[in-house]
Amino acid sequence: MIELQHLTKRFAGAERDAVRDLNLHVNEGELLVLIGESGCGKTTTLNMINRLTEPTAGSILIGNEDAHAKDPVELRRSMGFVFQAVGLFPHLTVEENIAITPRLLKWPADKITARVEQLFDLVRLDAATYRARLPRELSGGQRQRVGLARALAARPRIMLMDEPFGALDPLTRDDLSADYRAIHDRLGLTTILVTHDMTEAFLLADRVAVMRDGELVQQGTPHQLLAEPADAFVRTLVETPRRRAKALARAMETDSAP
Ligand SMILES: Nc1ncnc2c1ncn2[C@@H]1O[C@H](COP(=O)(O)OP(=O)(O)O)[C@@H](O)[C@H]1O
Ligand SMILES: [Mg+2]
Repeated sequence: MIELQHLTKRFAGAERDAVRDLNLHVNEGELLVLIGESGCGKTTTLNMINRLTEPTAGSILIGNEDAHAKDPVELRRSMGFVFQAVGLFPHLTVEENIAITPRLLKWPADKITARVEQLFDLVRLDAATYRARLPRELSGGQRQRVGLARALAARPRIMLMDEPFGALDPLTRDDLSADYRAIHDRLGLTTILVTHDMTEAFLLADRVAVMRDGELVQQGTPHQLLAEPADAFVRTLVETPRRRAKALARAMETDSAP
C-alpha cells in the first residue's frame, strides 16, 4: 500500500542525510509506528510521503502508483494528517474546522452536514455541545479529537500522524490513542504514526519501525523487536516500558515499607 524505496533526503547545506536509503513497506490496513529519538528523521519521512518535502533520491509508491507522478494537492487530499500542534483555524467553529476539506472539495451542503454528524460520533465528541465552539474553548484532548475528525472528513484511506498525542496529559493520551486504534480498525485505514514513546508504540502498532540518525535500524512486530532486537540501541529502546514498570514497582515497594 505504501512503499518507500531507497528514500533519501539531504537538506540544502546539510553535511549529512536527514533520511538515508530508507526502505519500508506498509501493508493495507496496517498501523505502522515509526519511532526514534528526536532529530532521527521521522518528520522528514512523513513529509516526503505527503510531498511537503521532495526526496533527494529514492521513490514512494502509494497503492502501486508513484507518488511523484501525482498532483501534490490531490495526493494530500487522499491522505489525512494529524500533528502534535493540531493547527485548527482559531476563528472557525469546531463544525467549520471539521468541514474544511469537504467544503474545498465542493461537496453539497447536506452531505457535509451529515458527514460532520458522523465524525462527531466517530471521535466521540458531543455535537450539540461542541459544534459552535471555537478551538480555544476546548481542552487539548478535545482539540485533538477535532483535528482527527477534520483529518478523516473526506474519507482518506491513509493517515499520517506526527506525534499526535505528544502534547496531551497521560490519561487523555491513553484514551485518545485507544480510540484511534479502534477508528483505524473500523475504517480499515492504513496508518503511519510517529512517536518517541515506546509504550505507546507497543500498545498501538501492528509493526514498529525504529530509526536512528536517518536510517531504519529494524522493523517488526512488537513481539519480534522484544525477542530479537537488532542491536544494543534497539534493545535499550524496546526495554524502556519494562524498565520503567520495574522502577515503578520498586518505588512502590519502598513507599509501602514501614
Ligand atoms: N527544513 C529543514 N531544513 C534543514 N534541516 C532540516 C529541516 N527539517 C529537518 N531538518 C533536519 O533533519 C534532521 C531530521 O529532522 P526531523 O525529520 O524533523 O526529525 P524527527 O522528526 O525525528 O525529530 C534533523 O537533523 C533536522 O535538523
Ligand atoms: Mg518530528
